Amino acid sequence: MKVLYAASEARPFKASGGLAEVAGSLPQALRKRLIGARVVMPLYDSIPQELKDTMTFLTHIVVPVAWRRQYCGIFEARFGGVIYYLIDNQYYFKRDSRIYGYYDDAERFAFFSRAVLEILPHLNGFQPDIIHCNDWQTALVPVYQSVFYAKDPRYQGIKTVFTIHNIEYQGKYGMDILEDVFGLDDRHASLVEHGGDINLMKGGIECADAVTTVSPSYASEILDPWYSHGLDSILKNRGFKVSGILNGIDTAYYDPAADEHIAAKFSLAEPEEKARDKAALQALFELEQSPRAPLIGVVSRLVAHKGFDLVKASAMELLDSSNAQLAVLGTGEWQYESFFKELAQKYPGRVGVKIAFVPEWSRRVYAGSDLFLMPSKSEPCGLSQMIALRYGSIPIVRETGGLKDSVQDSGNGEGNGFSFHDFNADELLRTIYRALQGYADQDGWKILMKRAMECDNSWGKSANAYIRLYKGMVNS
Ligand code: GLC
Repeated sequence: MKVLYAASEARPFKASGGLAEVAGSLPQALRKRLIGARVVMPLYDSIPQELKDTMTFLTHIVVPVAWRRQYCGIFEARFGGVIYYLIDNQYYFKRDSRIYGYYDDAERFAFFSRAVLEILPHLNGFQPDIIHCNDWQTALVPVYQSVFYAKDPRYQGIKTVFTIHNIEYQGKYGMDILEDVFGLDDRHASLVEHGGDINLMKGGIECADAVTTVSPSYASEILDPWYSHGLDSILKNRGFKVSGILNGIDTAYYDPAADEHIAAKFSLAEPEEKARDKAALQALFELEQSPRAPLIGVVSRLVAHKGFDLVKASAMELLDSSNAQLAVLGTGEWQYESFFKELAQKYPGRVGVKIAFVPEWSRRVYAGSDLFLMPSKSEPCGLSQMIALRYGSIPIVRETGGLKDSVQDSGNGEGNGFSFHDFNADELLRTIYRALQGYADQDGWKILMKRAMECDNSWGKSANAYIRLYKGMVNS
């Protein structure tokens, strides 16, 4: 079984979010299970030079983008035993360090999606059974396969999977660029048209042989208009091919017993060492050095769907009525950035904020915090809560999507965290108070930490679920 995993970002080459984590770890897990998984992604100019130095040039071809004929270099690299194909075109990918947000993103990813298909005859005999596409940037792969390659025998046996990592970002464009940028004419408009616009995610859902999302709960939530950002009817019609598979994390990469970026390594056998990480985190975030003050960590993009309106509405009451400390790391919308900066000014020594995206610091937050706050309004999967569990930081989450599927409330003496259902600030506050009460009971807390650190969120189960899906498709 051979799988080509197509993604717009993959760790370690280029990352802006959770997709890169998945693209950087699922293929390795598949390979360990004897699936020949390889990855294809764009060769961004901003990929670090030392990684570029590991790439070798395979060949170059010409890729059509509507009426255009574009150069496409194919480079190959290896990482963690996985072969990566990097698609080179400086006109599209020699930009600044951002991956997205350019005026011509539609054309950039139309090129990339077409390239994913065009390179197949040039990979020294690697002929995938499955092309696994992710999010709107590669949603055109199954569309193009059915429009341009249906009669080409080299492409006929290939099945496509389309995974939705976040339904909020759909790749919407005006119908006027259908032909000029996407190379599709009126006969094919219905494949990608939704609500009067071009909607690439809809195209992926329509044309892929299977559609997955990154947790079972999110797979059912997105059938509901509250979560679907307009795509519920499309998904309901295609319900027979939609399923949810919970992401895993790379447990070797996120391992408190081996992490070089944290102040003190610790493990289930030596959990006491975590106290040193807490002291170091308090120092890094300019918090008071108090070993027994419950320290709540946040590592997140600071955007609305992560639930920060609830934090805004409850933070002052929490700080006034408890001895909790707060360490916040992230960047995002101005309103949340400025809220947290003001909060830190108002509560010096109690609230520390870093408006930044620094992966090494995030590890220090996981390692040094007692509790990890993630009250998302929606959360397709969420990886931070899984990393927090592994670092013995007990998650406080809203019961949605992957948070619901990976965190169980410990109120009944089992479970690995604290959770609430309704998206409202009172519920969040009550839940944090329950967590603080739990923290006050030192013996009980040790048991909870042990249960959290013992959770198995490695890729094993999920990789097996993908393999079952692939095999079912190839054999049908
Ligand atoms: C997106 C989602 C997040 C998920 C990640 C990886 O970033 O918002 O919930 O964990 O993709 O699938």
